[in-house]
Amino acid sequence: MNSETLTLLGIETSCDDSSMAVIRDGQILSNLIYSQAIHKKYGGVIPEWASRKHLEAMVPLYRECLQTAGIRQEQLSGIAVTRGPGLMGSLLVGMGFAKALSLSLGIPLVEVNHLEAHVFSVMIESSDLHFPYLCLTVSGGHTQLIRVDGFGAYTLLGTTLDDAAGEAFDKTGKMLGLDYPAGPEIDRLAAEGRAIHRFPVSEIGGFDYSFSGFKTSVLYYLEKKLKTDPDFIRNNLHDLCASIQNTIVEILIRKVKLAMQDQNLNQLGVAGGVSANSGLRRALKDLASQNTWTVHFPSIQYCTDNAGMIAFVGFKKYQDGKFADDRMVPMAKYPL
Ligand code: KG4
Ligand code: ZN
Repeated sequence: MNSETLTLLGIETSCDDSSMAVIRDGQILSNLIYSQAIHKKYGGVIPEWASRKHLEAMVPLYRECLQTAGIRQEQLSGIAVTRGPGLMGSLLVGMGFAKALSLSLGIPLVEVNHLEAHVFSVMIESSDLHFPYLCLTVSGGHTQLIRVDGFGAYTLLGTTLDDAAGEAFDKTGKMLGLDYPAGPEIDRLAAEGRAIHRFPVSEIGGFDYSFSGFKTSVLYYLEKKLKTDPDFIRNNLHDLCASIQNTIVEILIRKVKLAMQDQNLNQLGVAGGVSANSGLRRALKDLASQNTWTVHFPSIQYCTDNAGMIAFVGFKKYQDGKFADDRMVPMAKYPL
């Protein structure tokens, strides 16, 4: 092995996606994601099933990941693993695997905050994004507006007071009878619909978000319409999806605009599963061009939960000699 070559394995198991990635000298060589289909029929993630499915996936995923990257395990210099936040059972599986592998290969372990990894997922492919920037992280568990001044230098400007943006998609999608997670399906169906209805939303001060008022208004609207037309959802599915998506996007971009102006920033990064949404991408690109800002989105493989972003942050920490303690345990809550 070339002594200057640094090769890390990244492991992500915080929720319901098992993922491993290999990064070599800052370049991601493989980023594999096994999504757990089992939760679809339950309408949400069942934590015990998530842990079992992670455990089932670990060894085959590891083999496939090394093979795709074209490396042997002896070439690994270290392992980066998600410490939290996330589901405790799921995190334990990834961390247990990481610890055992680190011990057997005699290589160090680096712990990574999942939220920090989302923030930097924007930088994996955007070489023209520089500090400081505003990061909108929108996932199934989090909605955050963060000022990023450097690695480890974050100011949390706003967050959600109730549901996350992804949950707003998933829960309203469930009301429409869509499978979990409904976000990608709403996005697909909305493309052929028209936003015919604007759902009322709760107005929250500052840079914080709230989706509970919106969720309730979707519920009441559907209940009312279904009373007179039992086929209302089926007959209007595309338009309903477009209306839901439009309202969520409107809620999100309002605070982005305020925060960009307040912080006097001209670069915006968007991360997390909901950053894959085509309506959000379109709206933010328009907003950016109106204000002469630049906006940066990760490619789809780095939007939803993935080990590539864990390996990316782990790589920086490894270079800085920030290794994990032998007794490290996962953290279900792990603030940025
Ligand atoms: O980042 P992520 O994979 O996991 C968490 O850390 O939560 O985000 C998952 C969330 C789900 O709520 C899913 O519905 C949403 O991201 N999502 C989308 C799209 N793709 C994924 N929401 C709207 N449009 C999409 N295209
Ligand atoms: Zn995530």
